[in-house]
This record gives sequence, C-alpha cells and structure tokens, in this order.
Amino acid sequence: MIKKCLFPAAGYGTRFLPATKTTPKEMLPIINKPLIQYGVEEAMEAGIFNMAIVTGRGKRSLEDYFDINYELEHQLKGTSKENLLKDIRNVLETCSFSYTRQMEMKGLGHAILVGESLVGNEPFAVILSDDLCDNEGGQGVLSQMCKIYAKYRCSIVAVEEVALEEVSKYGVIAGRKIDEDVFVVDNMIEKPSQEEAPSNLAIIGRYILTPDIFEILHRTKPGKNGEIQITDALLEQCKKGMVLGYKFKGVRYDCGSVDGFVKATNIFYDKLKR
Ligand code: UTP
Repeated sequence: MIKKCLFPAAGYGTRFLPATKTTPKEMLPIINKPLIQYGVEEAMEAGIFNMAIVTGRGKRSLEDYFDINYELEHQLKGTSKENLLKDIRNVLETCSFSYTRQMEMKGLGHAILVGESLVGNEPFAVILSDDLCDNEGGQGVLSQMCKIYAKYRCSIVAVEEVALEEVSKYGVIAGRKIDEDVFVVDNMIEKPSQEEAPSNLAIIGRYILTPDIFEILHRTKPGKNGEIQITDALLEQCKKGMVLGYKFKGVRYDCGSVDGFVKATNIFYDKLKR
C-alpha cells in the first residue's frame, strides 16, 4: 500500500562536527553499517522498496554507497570477505534509489517538500535515519505503522514517551486514545517548554504522510527557529481531517546525538557478541 520511503538527509549534523564536515551524518556507522542502511532495511521489512533520498551539498557518498563498487566486488570475489557485502548487495538487488537535493536547509518540512518530485501523489513513509529503531527481531516500527495506515488511511506520526525535561527537543502531541497505542492528534507543538507541552508524547523520526501534506507545506510559513516545520503542516492536516499518533513497540536511539550514538553502538556490539 505504501510504496515509497523518503529519507530527508540534507541536515548539517553539526553535533558530530568535525566528522560531518565531509562525511554525511547518515553515513556514520553503528558498528559496521551506516545509519541510513538501518533505515533502508527497516523500510524493506515493511515491504517498501523505492527509496527517495533528499541530500545536500557534501552528501555524494550516500549515492555512491547505494551503488555497485566493481573494483571492490572484483577484489573480494571468491574470498572469505565476500560475505561482508551480503547485506548491502541484497539492498541493491531489491531496491531502487532516487535522489534530489535540498539547496537551502530550511527545516524538515522544507526537506519533505523538496521530496515531492520523487514521491508524487501517493501516501509515503518518512524515515529520519538518525533515529535508529530496533524491535529485537519483532516487527519493525515502519511495518507496525503500515498496518495502522491500512486501517485508518491518514497521516501517522510515531511517538514515544519522554521525560518532561526532554520535551523541548521534540514535536509533542496531545491526543485522544482510540485503539491500543493509537491516538487521534488534536494538538501538536514543536519544541515546547515543559509548561507548554501538551503531554510527554514526543514525535520521533518515523512518519506516514498522505500526499495532501505537500499542498499544505507549499503554504506553510517558517515557524520555530525560522524553519518550515512538518509539525505545523501536520497540525493543519489534523484540523481538516485526522492525524494519528502511534506509540510504537521497540526502542529508539537518537543517533543524531553523541549520547544516543554511543548507546546504540554499545547495545549493537553486545548483540553481535551474544
Ligand atoms: P536534525 O536537526 O536532527 O539534523 O534534523 P541536523 O540539522 O542534521 O543535525 P544537527 O542538529 O545540526 O546536529 C532531523 C532530520 O531532518 C533532516 C536531517 O538530515 C535529519 O535527518 N533535515 C533537517 C533536512 O534534511 N533538511 C533540513 O533543512 C533540516
């Protein structure tokens, strides 16, 4: 039902400078796999095989990564190391990739709007690959969300309960529960103070969006921090129709922050050794 997944990946990743001066944040590895590959594999698990990536200046290595490296293939062919390319080969054999560039970093809402030409007029998923989600061998977060979409056919944001001291880092929803872990959103505030926060349900980097979001984004004015915010566009969608918040099963690591990145690295390393 959902055929395309958009990856906004144009941000500067300033929290990882100087590494991100020439290496895209999405290419930073947790153990031996770049963050974006975890995202792509989560989309594949949800039955989505068309990946649309919004890149920016200095992000060429993303395109090179999702392409064949003939020299390397030739070098490793028939050796014991060939196995190391198994997962990425599988990605390349099963998925198609398209790219566009966000020329000015005007916020997540703007990055999604830039992806319009790749997505077209159909519902689509969005993965922010710096949020690494893991459901310990169970159904992936995007897969869980696709199921909810099949039932309700409206935009969905993945939410997680966070500590009150953390709400100011996120878009936060207020909602009415209609199903197990499913809320109808009636308000949404981007990066609220603790006093302003309507709940502690924070939006994380997984969305399913219906295509009318583009028409709204075209009209959305810069909001918090002077950026075009996806939460402002979603708020309009929920006033006109319905937007759901889904409290997903699994764990999310904020790999856009050094703390989250280190935590994910340690946990994935422990899993490897198990
Ligand atoms: P972040 O704000 O977490 O990423 O944006 P950032 O700006 O790259 O990181 P810092 O704060 O400077 O360390 C969330 C996601 O939205 C994308 C980013 O690439 C990231 O995946 N994004 C954000 C864009 O693609 N374009 C934008 O204009 C802003």
